[in-house]
Amino acid sequence: MSEATSADAPTSDATGSGLPTPGTTTSVADVTGHDETGGRHPHGQERGVRLCFVCLGNICRSPTAEAIMRHLVANADVGPFVVIDSAGTSAYHAGDPPDRRSTAAAARHGVRLDGQSRQFTVEDFERFDHIIAMDGQNLRNLRRLARGPADLARLSLLRQWRPEHDGPDMCVTADVPDPYYDVDDGFETVFRICTVACSAILATLLRQSSVSPVAPKIGTLGRGAKAPDNSPF
Ligand code: 4NP
Repeated sequence: MSEATSADAPTSDATGSGLPTPGTTTSVADVTGHDETGGRHPHGQERGVRLCFVCLGNICRSPTAEAIMRHLVANADVGPFVVIDSAGTSAYHAGDPPDRRSTAAAARHGVRLDGQSRQFTVEDFERFDHIIAMDGQNLRNLRRLARGPADLARLSLLRQWRPEHDGPDMCVTADVPDPYYDVDDGFETVFRICTVACSAILATLLRQSSVSPVAPKIGTLGRGAKAPDNSPF
């Protein structure tokens, strides 16, 4: 979504793995994912990670994953070193707010969705370490945009992220189902799938020391918020 919050914007390591090298802290930069330096921190950041979730319209699934990831990161107190954004491979809804059914599902769990839909651009390959597609169709769309192996190495599917793996498990290919034309509770399903996967992403990043908690609070509620009884947080 085109209204990302602030955090430092690290570059990837020199190995092309897409993962930043832990260690050096950085000063605060424009962390919207749209900075004029193409995502490169002007002071040479080496700690942190930049994530972009991608679906088709950027109004249902990827904004949900973005908002959940922000929520988890805020509760883990690793915020300054994580850039989180989302985009769509289409421009069908460019400029639109999140779908109200997604907003409602998130609100039921104490998570706020906002921002405006934007289309993924080829420059996003430089702005993000991990570009995480919601389904195979959007992964194929992203692969077509990739300019080479370095871009391709940043791509994964959301459900490939599992707690027991140091990165996406490439054997898993399950989609996050598109809820847009759903008449039933597809939005709740999307929320729950995104929660499980985003928790696995954060656990992976913490295990790899790509991000470090200032004060570990995972599994607890931060910022004085009270989640509803049915919340997974
Ligand atoms: P999303 O859902 O990709 O999860 O944002 C969709 C939103 C809109 C459309 C399809 C999927 N559409 O066809 O307009």
